Amino acid sequence: MARVLVLGGTKFLGRAVTEAALAAGHEVTLLNRGTTNPELFPEAEHLRGDRTSDLSALEGREWEAVIDVAAYLPEVAQFSAVALCDRVGQYVFVSTVSVYAEHDRPEDQLEEAAVLRLEDAKDEGELYGARKAVCETVVQELYGDRATIGRPGLIAGPHDPTDRFDYWPRRLAVGGRVLGPGSPRDPVQFIDVRDLGAWLVGAAVDRVAGVFNLVGAPMHFADLIEACRVPGVDAEMVWVRSDLLIGAGVEEWMGIPLWIASEGWRAANRVDGSRAIATGLQVRTVAETVEAARANPPHESSQAISLEREQQLLQQFAPKPSRGV
Ligand SMILES: NC(=O)c1ccc[n+]([C@@H]2O[C@H](COP(=O)([O-])OP(=O)(O)OC[C@H]3O[C@@H](n4cnc5c(N)ncnc54)[C@H](OP(=O)(O)O)[C@@H]3O)[C@@H](O)[C@H]2O)c1
Repeated sequence: MARVLVLGGTKFLGRAVTEAALAAGHEVTLLNRGTTNPELFPEAEHLRGDRTSDLSALEGREWEAVIDVAAYLPEVAQFSAVALCDRVGQYVFVSTVSVYAEHDRPEDQLEEAAVLRLEDAKDEGELYGARKAVCETVVQELYGDRATIGRPGLIAGPHDPTDRFDYWPRRLAVGGRVLGPGSPRDPVQFIDVRDLGAWLVGAAVDRVAGVFNLVGAPMHFADLIEACRVPGVDAEMVWVRSDLLIGAGVEEWMGIPLWIASEGWRAANRVDGSRAIATGLQVRTVAETVEAARANPPHESSQAISLEREQQLLQQFAPKPSRGV
């Protein structure tokens, strides 16, 4: 049993981290503002603080490990990393595979590959990755071999606030002609939040230092679709070439979730996770993640294409043959 501090801990990944830490029998303390799901985890200790301005609740306390789940700005990561430097053993920082400068070849996304620089960031996506990369450096410089940097790819599963993975189980449950983007053999990749949470807790407590991609194995898009099928619901997949969809202005990744086809992104769904697997990362079956996705509440602010738009695109690129006599 270890004393584990979770910075955040009540929304999505942090929630899974807290659940995993409690299930493993650790003594868990959460620090957050108390605005997101404050009723969760009565069995944990709750400290209140704002990571941008007030961490006084951490004073005079010590933990074997901290898991910093959701820092996006270097100054925020720095504030807690400095405040905890003499008070914790291992510092686990949750980053992202979006730190990589390139995504065209699998080797561009190995843990030692180049990361984005703030001064080169051209859009919000790159700014997110570049800021996370600076956060990583802040933690590594302060903690050295007491630092663990986890870089997840797309996260799916219980309480996912985004409509990315969840789009597919939902769409297949509706049935009819379903637009498949690109080719059925294109790769998709994700990790279940519960597997990620368990690995982060294990790495924190066992002091697994270093940088780790945290991803599931790539699978064919068609295999994900098969796992999303609902018995008794007739769904016909109609695959439309990526260049046609891009030409029609369909947005990758959020518009048609999990689909990436742009120039320079050929390996985005083929990130190598073998380093983390060698330290014990275990991933569950896609069926379990699909089941959890089905239980998530509807996403009110989904950016995924509507059924109407999908049917228009199908009509444009793969019209149903009329049955003449
Ligand atoms: N989703 C993906 O596919 C994906 C992929 C790769 C990486 N990631 C990374 O995974 C992480 C996901 O984080 P999450 O949102 O799921 O974490 P979470 O820990 O479940 O939720 C965020 C927590 O931060 C707390 N918080 C927010 N602002 C705060 C502040 N100013 N001071 C103190 N506490 C504050 C919130 O509680 P209060 O509101 O009560 O303060 C909440 O407990 C991020 O680091 C993201 O970059 C995500």
